[in-house]
Amino acid sequence: IVGDAEAGERVYRKCQACHMVGEDAQNRVGPQQNGVLGRTVGAVEDFRYSDVLMEKNAEGVVWTPETLAAFLENPREWAPGTKMSFAGLRKEEERNDVIAYLATYNAD
Ligand code: HEM
Repeated sequence: IVGDAEAGERVYRKCQACHMVGEDAQNRVGPQQNGVLGRTVGAVEDFRYSDVLMEKNAEGVVWTPETLAAFLENPREWAPGTKMSFAGLRKEEERNDVIAYLATYNAD
């Protein structure tokens, strides 16, 4: 993890329109994100994913810093047909920082 988690907390405001992370996080428009690093794509209970993320789930694709960065840079390119209506994070630094922020929710 090369990013800065504190800077990533600010970047994460863009995600909070649709996602929750932390204590009592619930699925909203998007799935809750506790423990996302290291988890198989499309694996949060009771969240209804797009077909493309369910295909990646069946293939065993895992959220690593690399797969997360690729998805976040251009969600529709990495996962054509994704339900995540988000243009993406164009700046590598923002991607790295938000991934570092999410990683802080992996040990609870
Ligand atoms: C899915 C991250 C912004 C809506 C996901 C997933 C990740 C993610 C990692 C896959 C989760 C899994 O496999 O369990 C982020 C981050 C964001 C962001 C870090 C900000 C930088 C948004 C925004 C929205 C949104 C703004 C709503 C406009 C969704 C939806 C899904 C999703 C609906 C499910 C996608 C599908 O089934 O194809 N997001 N997201 N996300 N996100 Fe986001």
